[in-house]
Amino acid sequence: MPNQEPKKSYEFFAPKIYIRTFGCQMNVRDSEVIRGLLEKEGYSFTDEPAKADVIIFNTCSVRQHAEDKVWSEIGRLKGQSPPGTAPLMGVIGCMAQAHKEKIFERAANVSFVVGPSDIAKLPGIINKLRNKETLGTVPMQLKIWETDGTIRPDEIYRTGFYEDKSHAYVVISEGCSNFCSYCVVPYVRSALRNRKIQDILREITEAVDKGIKNITLLGQNVNAYRDEGGDFIQLLSKVNDIGGLEEFSFVTSHPKDISSGLFREMADLEKLKKHLHLPVQSGSNRILGLMNRGYTRESYLDLVDKYRKGLKKGTLSSDIIVGFPSETETDFKDTFDLVMNARFDAAYIFKYSPRPHTQAQNIPDDVERKEKERRHKLILDLQISIAKNKKC
Ligand code: 5AD
Ligand code: SF4
Repeated sequence: MPNQEPKKSYEFFAPKIYIRTFGCQMNVRDSEVIRGLLEKEGYSFTDEPAKADVIIFNTCSVRQHAEDKVWSEIGRLKGQSPPGTAPLMGVIGCMAQAHKEKIFERAANVSFVVGPSDIAKLPGIINKLRNKETLGTVPMQLKIWETDGTIRPDEIYRTGFYEDKSHAYVVISEGCSNFCSYCVVPYVRSALRNRKIQDILREITEAVDKGIKNITLLGQNVNAYRDEGGDFIQLLSKVNDIGGLEEFSFVTSHPKDISSGLFREMADLEKLKKHLHLPVQSGSNRILGLMNRGYTRESYLDLVDKYRKGLKKGTLSSDIIVGFPSETETDFKDTFDLVMNARFDAAYIFKYSPRPHTQAQNIPDDVERKEKERRHKLILDLQISIAKNKKC
């Protein structure tokens, strides 16, 4: 990058975009959607930031560590291009929504900030910034931010661009209305909005016509899906009927909204992958209450039991947070004990990270970093040994 040659004028007519995606599958899908929209506008894409005219960071706010990675990446690129050749840089996604125009104060090299509900506006924003710059009518300092959107036009999902040619992520709902006390998602991705069943089915049918064989239905809480055309179980049955589709799965489920009817349906639908990701977060009823999760360790373990009985070969994974504010050794042992009992095939274990706006932020983050690390390691080691024994 330091030796990069100044851009030649013709290169402005073949603008290249580099997108770096942080976070979950929802963000991976959003980056594809954005790529589809920008390709329609004549932009091309590069995997090398040094060759890009526009750099987009699609960001995650779920833990402080995720944000720190983005800030450091923005900082790393600062001052690496010779004067007048710096690419346009933008921050989109959850961090854009969380920090809004304050991002410009911390990162002067960022020119646009776009929240998750405003991504349809990205091509217009980039065109505007590029035109102004190349025509030299407006100083480079022009900044644009869009973080007030509430809905995404459904057409954005229909560009037909999927990174993988045989597998596609398909969004069924955006946002989340659960307000788990540790989670920033309801604040950065707003309330739950369900896509219409016929729009989802049409997107899948079109993808299958293009050669996609396998899909993953995406939502923060898929079990809360509801539309005039049916609920989540009915959606699964309709997806299963799509000719040419070979396999499908879904993430993420919420224990408070799941029913044994879903397990019966999972067993019956021949194309549906027999896997359930069911985050438990904690095994302590006291902590589950503070987390506002809406279930108990007993009701969770009962679900696990019903799932295992209903789907003999079904696999199960989970998310766990250690070191939630006020978590005692006894609470932690309850989580350890739950993991021993549930015998997950896989589990993602996180150290609690206080997030802005959330309820839990009002409780002192009193579990020391070292203690969070110890608890994290203990659960991780336990889970590794469970998974190893399962394979034997
Ligand atoms: N701190 C740590 N982990 C968190 N998660 C969500 N919010 C936080 C937080 N503030 C975890 C949860 C969730 C997963 C995607 O990230 O376990 O299921
Ligand atoms: Fe995905 Fe949550 Fe991160 Fe947003 S904050 S990108 S929804 S993991």
